[in-house]
Amino acid sequence: MGAETERWAAVDRWIEARLLGPDEVLEATNRVAAEAGLPPIQVSAIQARLLELLVRASGARRVLEIGTLAGYSTIAMARALPPEGRLVSLELDRRHAEVARANVARAGLAERVEIRPGPARESLAELSREGAPPFDLVFLDADKTGYPDYLRAALALSRPGTVLVADNVVREGAIAEPKQTDAVVTAVRQFLEALGADPRLRATVVPMVGVKGYDGMAIAWVGPGPAVSWPAVSSVGPGDRETSARTTENKSGPPGVPGGPAHRPTGRGP
Ligand code: SAH
Ligand code: DHB
Ligand code: MG
Repeated sequence: MGAETERWAAVDRWIEARLLGPDEVLEATNRVAAEAGLPPIQVSAIQARLLELLVRASGARRVLEIGTLAGYSTIAMARALPPEGRLVSLELDRRHAEVARANVARAGLAERVEIRPGPARESLAELSREGAPPFDLVFLDADKTGYPDYLRAALALSRPGTVLVADNVVREGAIAEPKQTDAVVTAVRQFLEALGADPRLRATVVPMVGVKGYDGMAIAWVGPGPAVSWPAVSSVGPGDRETSARTTENKSGPPGVPGGPAHRPTGRGP
């Protein structure tokens, strides 16, 4: 590790020690994952706290996660739900899904969490076919080349007020380096450009440095549908608008989340 990255990691650890404190459940989750030989690519402890806070602050009752691994971020978010809350997490690798189920059960969250094995694209299509009620918060963290597709699918499973979060969108700064043209960087750029171009969305990226190096998370809020949209953005085609959030009311949403026409954004400009 270079001096710079070691300093970033030291700051993460300093913050973790002061603000988070010990967490038996999440620590056990990582221990079990390491013993099972899963790659240590889960969100950091302070990132897990951020996810927890986003779930709490949004009042989410239904969370969708794409990319479970051993259930670390899953548990951090599921614990922040009210008792009747639900989290659905999609995981390609059956072994990861098994390890995650055991971790979720140990955390006492088995009732609240459903882990669906299989390719996320298929599980997302399945959720739509089933007529799943809209999710209040979606966390994207599976294969990065899938992000553009996952965004479309997530929007189809959203409502006005839904919060979208996506990990690993800065990639050591590669997104802003024209020379970087590999499939992952290209897909992440497409994903971010889609966030910026969709009139339903208000989005930002929070760049981060820490134990996971230099990366960042995108955070977006789904506003009202095209009928009460922000000033038009030309790169969004009419086809894309068809997938707008399915309700304008707010039937299943948490209290206090704007869903009705009374809460209109004032515009995306300064
Ligand atoms: N969110 C987890 C980390 C996820 S790592 C945490 O922070 O704790 C990414 C996960 O996505 C891996 O477990 C990988 O198996 C899974 N994945 C990769 N491609 C996928 C796909 N097409 N569908 C669903 N999951 C996928
Ligand atoms: C990888 C995936 C992640 O979601 C992450 O946060 C870090 C690394 C990976 O696939 O290497
Ligand atoms: Mg990640």
